[in-house]
Amino acid sequence: MIALHQVSKIYSSRQKSGPPTIALDNVSFSVDRKEFVSLVGRSGAGKTTLLKLIIAEERPTKGKIFFDSKDISKLKRFQIPYLRRKVGVVFQDYKLFPKKTTYENIAYVLEIMGKKDEEISWEVSQVLEIVGLKNRAYNFPSELSGGEKQRVAIARALVHRPDVILADEPTGNLDPYNTFEIIRLLNKIYEMGTTVILATHDRELINILKKRVITLEEGKVIRDEQRGRFIL
Ligand SMILES: Nc1ncnc2c1ncn2[C@@H]1O[C@H](COP(=O)(O)OP(=O)(O)O)[C@@H](O)[C@H]1O
Ligand SMILES: [Mg+2]
Repeated sequence: MIALHQVSKIYSSRQKSGPPTIALDNVSFSVDRKEFVSLVGRSGAGKTTLLKLIIAEERPTKGKIFFDSKDISKLKRFQIPYLRRKVGVVFQDYKLFPKKTTYENIAYVLEIMGKKDEEISWEVSQVLEIVGLKNRAYNFPSELSGGEKQRVAIARALVHRPDVILADEPTGNLDPYNTFEIIRLLNKIYEMGTTVILATHDRELINILKKRVITLEEGKVIRDEQRGRFIL
């Protein structure tokens, strides 16, 4: 479904004379449909860069990236929205609209896709059911706990029925209890048939998951194991 072939990403320095940063160095792997893959590594290892390449927010400096057999490394700007429709993204800091309710935060995705009100209302209620937040539909983000906010963000990432969910340190701001709940939820989404790619530096979490782990170190894949453990 997603395949990287010898992908490197080099950021040039923001100051003219500064050295470039090699964020990813000759990375190759593929992810099949209905896989759950964790991408682990220390801060700065290149996890976020990798996710940005998959949604074409950044372009590789070298190498090719395939999404459903289509090379996305050279997509034209107008082609990017079609790619994004296949993907849902979840961030560490939720990125909810503070002045929109839970319902509105989720409905928004379908509104910009031009869906009808009845369909929106049905789809939003479906995802609220999945994430267990039906009773929070009309609350604003400021009225929700961190765990609840992340569940809203996951519902929003899910509402257009993407083929893959990319989660970038989704539990980074959560306590252990809520971390566990979010991981359970991602696992449930995976079991419902969606591919999940989870970037994290949380060891315990990975050791609980017992699923495929790709380990990055200084931009290189140093390990790729089914039922992997977090070793650094
Ligand atoms: N826009 C950017 N410009 C320059 N350097 C960047 C940029 N984004 C990330 N980097 C650098 O690339 C490396 C990898 O960063 P990142 O992908 O964010 O790692 P991670 O998500 O694993 O913490 C780091 O050294 C980081 O400082
Ligand atoms: Mg990151």
